[in-house]
Amino acid sequence: MDSAVYERVHSNMVTLKLDTMESIVDSYLESALSEGKSFIEILDYLITQEINNKKASIIEYRLMLSGIPARKRLDDFDYSFQPSIDQNVIRDLRSLRFIHNCENVVLLGPSGVGKTHIAIGLAIDAINGGFSAHFTTANSMIEKLRMAANKDRLDRCLASYARCGLLVIDEIGYLPLDRKAANLFFQVVSQRYEKNPTIFTSNKAFSDWGEILSDSVLAAAVLDRILHHCTVVNIKGESYRLKKRRMTPQQSSAGGQCKV
Ligand SMILES: Nc1ncnc2c1ncn2[C@@H]1O[C@H](COP(=O)(O)OP(=O)(O)OP(=O)(O)O)[C@@H](O)[C@H]1O
Ligand SMILES: [Mg+2]
Repeated sequence: MDSAVYERVHSNMVTLKLDTMESIVDSYLESALSEGKSFIEILDYLITQEINNKKASIIEYRLMLSGIPARKRLDDFDYSFQPSIDQNVIRDLRSLRFIHNCENVVLLGPSGVGKTHIAIGLAIDAINGGFSAHFTTANSMIEKLRMAANKDRLDRCLASYARCGLLVIDEIGYLPLDRKAANLFFQVVSQRYEKNPTIFTSNKAFSDWGEILSDSVLAAAVLDRILHHCTVVNIKGESYRLKKRRMTPQQSSAGGQCKV
């Protein structure tokens, strides 16, 4: 092959940012030609590898930006430990229909039952499915909004929470919100209503949200919007953390049985 052509092919691939194709083309061509592959088969393979790697790096980039604190996957969730969870409901959520329809999910339950795990698992599924997702705790979101308000940037900050694809707001009700904070929370809920899907987690029943938000009228308005299009998963069970603490060190490292 003419070396000028060879170099042009490589440099054009670099210009077009076809990095995967550029790195594999030489070795793949050698084996493909010796196996008698047609030009169209060779092109198909190279383009497919390029697309797959581009998709994988977009997913990795979105995961990195998502604020997800730990890569918890739903495939690793032990449903046998939490029989109150209807697996059909989780399967339906994993179809991401709720995201397409801009619906909400509320995960309720006491400490350690897997609310954050499921919320993160769904966010990871969403990112793998081509959506963007952002994870925050209620307090960290309110803190960011308060700081933005102090710098006269509240509208911009609210808009960024309103716009993001799937938003996970974890730990609602762990710390009570004063009226100003509750108002900021209402604005996020209201701006996302019927426009973008949100997953909420809380260890408090809906009847306690008036107390959490320091205003029962505001809580009613918040819940009205959240629950209009919503799947509620109410987990009743024991803490998974407690199960781990009950294991002997040997059982724990061997993934053994719970010592009840
Ligand atoms: N059924 C389960 N199968 C596998 N791991 C689980 C299960 N439930 C919880 N875990 C794990 O136990 C730990 C606690 O779960 P998680 O953080 O989701 O609880 P939580 O309901 O959000 O609790 P909290 O209200 O205290 O925030 C995590 O490490 C999580 O991955
Ligand atoms: Mg949690």
